[in-house]
Amino acid sequence: MNQPGYDAAAALYAEMFPTAYQSTLEQYVVAAFADHVYEHASGGFVLDIGCGIGHVTADLADRGLDVLGVEPSRGMLDIARREHPGLRFAHDDAALGATAVEGRALAGVLARSSLIHLPPREVPAVLAGWAARMEPGGVVLIAGQATDTPGAVEEFDHAVAPAWRWHPDRVSEALSAAGFDELWRTLSRPDAGQRFPVSHVLARRRGSSDS
Ligand SMILES: C[S@@+](CC[C@H](N)C(=O)[O-])C[C@H]1O[C@@H](n2cnc3c(N)ncnc32)[C@H](O)[C@@H]1O
Repeated sequence: MNQPGYDAAAALYAEMFPTAYQSTLEQYVVAAFADHVYEHASGGFVLDIGCGIGHVTADLADRGLDVLGVEPSRGMLDIARREHPGLRFAHDDAALGATAVEGRALAGVLARSSLIHLPPREVPAVLAGWAARMEPGGVVLIAGQATDTPGAVEEFDHAVAPAWRWHPDRVSEALSAAGFDELWRTLSRPDAGQRFPVSHVLARRRGSSDS
């Protein structure tokens, strides 16, 4: 697995995004994800999928979570490892085909602006793979560029790699089919400069008694 577009853009990306968050909402949502992991899954092992240069991975670690950043672009990964030498990162993608997480139950998975790069037909199997590795009560947060059009999943002209923006109803449906129940969502334009709305959908793994 690799991501040549992000390999080429990695240095520029790090320059353009020196901090993890471009809005207070984004920061609060990641904090809420961490709180849910403690509340529903008692802390534990979490993944930051498509972690890029690792700044959200670092925030999750600062919040006390046992976190592994997972990233398919070697260029992004090199920067993450250089900037955060005390943190753990794996060369893998959202399908978790590498052995990095084998044998460890997941308490949470965060995917911020990374699942947008998966062809939509691949998303159900990826979510099912996370569910299979996750404890009941485990928490998933999916964030990314979205659309206001109900029911839509639209390809858009992302600067780095092919990408699709999803209405949160569709994210929620895909999560439900994989065994997760939505707890809450946001759909907003936290920054007036953004071309598209941004959505966050937080969901919890169904337990054996309520699945
Ligand atoms: C816009 S960046 C976001 C990085 C980071 N999550 C953040 O919030 O700063 C998108 C990231 O998703 C990664 N990505 C692309 N395709 C992916 C896939 N199939 N699985 C996991 N990550 C992927 C890219 O390499 C890139 O690092």
